[in-house]
Amino acid sequence: MLPSSPSQPAAFPTALCVPVAFPATSRGYDIQVGVNLLSDAGQRIEATLGKRRCVVVTDSNVAPLYLKRLEATLIAAGHDVGAPIVVPAGESSKSYATLQSVLDQLFAQGADRKTLLIALGGGVIGDLTGFTASIFMRGIDVVQFPTTLLAQVDSSVGGKTGIDTPHGKNTVGSFYQPRLVLIDVTTLDSLPTREVLAGYAEVVKYGLIMDKEFFAWCAAHGAKLLNGDRESQRHAIAACCAMKAQIVAEDEHDNGKRGLLNLGHTFGHALEAELDYDARLLHGEAVAIGTAMAFQLSAELGLCPSWDAQAVLTHFKEIGLPLAPPAGTYDVDALMQRMGHDKKAEAGKLVLILARGIGQAEIVRDVNPYPVRVLWKNTLGI
Ligand code: NAD
Ligand code: GLY
Repeated sequence: MLPSSPSQPAAFPTALCVPVAFPATSRGYDIQVGVNLLSDAGQRIEATLGKRRCVVVTDSNVAPLYLKRLEATLIAAGHDVGAPIVVPAGESSKSYATLQSVLDQLFAQGADRKTLLIALGGGVIGDLTGFTASIFMRGIDVVQFPTTLLAQVDSSVGGKTGIDTPHGKNTVGSFYQPRLVLIDVTTLDSLPTREVLAGYAEVVKYGLIMDKEFFAWCAAHGAKLLNGDRESQRHAIAACCAMKAQIVAEDEHDNGKRGLLNLGHTFGHALEAELDYDARLLHGEAVAIGTAMAFQLSAELGLCPSWDAQAVLTHFKEIGLPLAPPAGTYDVDALMQRMGHDKKAEAGKLVLILARGIGQAEIVRDVNPYPVRVLWKNTLGI
């Protein structure tokens, strides 16, 4: 069962509304999921945050697609729209240099503590803009308008922001919640198929972590979602956001349960790092491989029924998600070392997110490295 059923926001009946609540604080916000929110985003923002001075931050791929429409609705709703900030598309924009450039552009146009930033783009833009908002003038409001499936079901929700540094990915950042998240599923129409499929790995992940019924829904309807069926997109994205909202409300600062969201990520990060985070393997593809490995390992260790692991592999295969990385030369020692140095490793022991079954992920400490090595060899065919 879904932890909470998304409702319709009263003023705007075409979107599903998922609340993110932090008990004992007033920092909650809504995630609105719908069709064509790009045409009335200005009003939606006005209804929640009033008429504001807005600056849109976006990237060079997304700007030509959606920036004008967003600016038009902001102006129509009476907001004062500043000069947009457009950064180069891609992970390299999560950098000190781009952060400085964004901050400088905000100062140059006289942004102040009341300015509202709007992050229009994928996870790169969401992380960069969220982090900028958290430090500009000690913190200004930010609205997330995610345009990739990955960003819609994961990165725009929950307040993790940051940039990459020479010391690693996401090594400088903050927990900083947005004031509103607006998700227009029609933006997925322009997303390359490979990116949509990679984002879908994060969708299935929620079912595998905490909701067996949602995994069954994915197995039955995942293909429709990937083919652009609006109702399936809305349903799945709202369901994922509701699950993430529940986890984040319990563990905002990632000291416990939030770690479950990293199912498949320790394996996946090792592969991404070995491949220099380049285009050979997208993050979601790495997560799919890692998730399949986590279930296989769980079955091998007797934690999880083997038919559950098989069901995961079967769904990934049928839907087109990879179960192994692209052909290449891989070194199991290097991958193991990457896993050992992963942020979830404690005092040299392997800490992994494994599962007792579909919908029952858990954090397992002190995992024996031997079956993990064997699994790498099987996965890589070496
Ligand atoms: P991305 O932002 O780089 O977007 C992927 C590509 O799609 C880019 O080329 C982008 O320009 C393009 N794009 C975006 N929307 C488009 C659209 N609608 N149509 C056409 N092209 C579009 O990557 P991503 O996969 O969205 O996000 C990855 C980033 O998210 C990583 O930096 C990762 O660390 C971060 N992340 C953060 C969290 C978090 O909780 N903050 C969670 C997961 C991932
Ligand atoms: N994407 C993992 C998290 O938000 O914790």
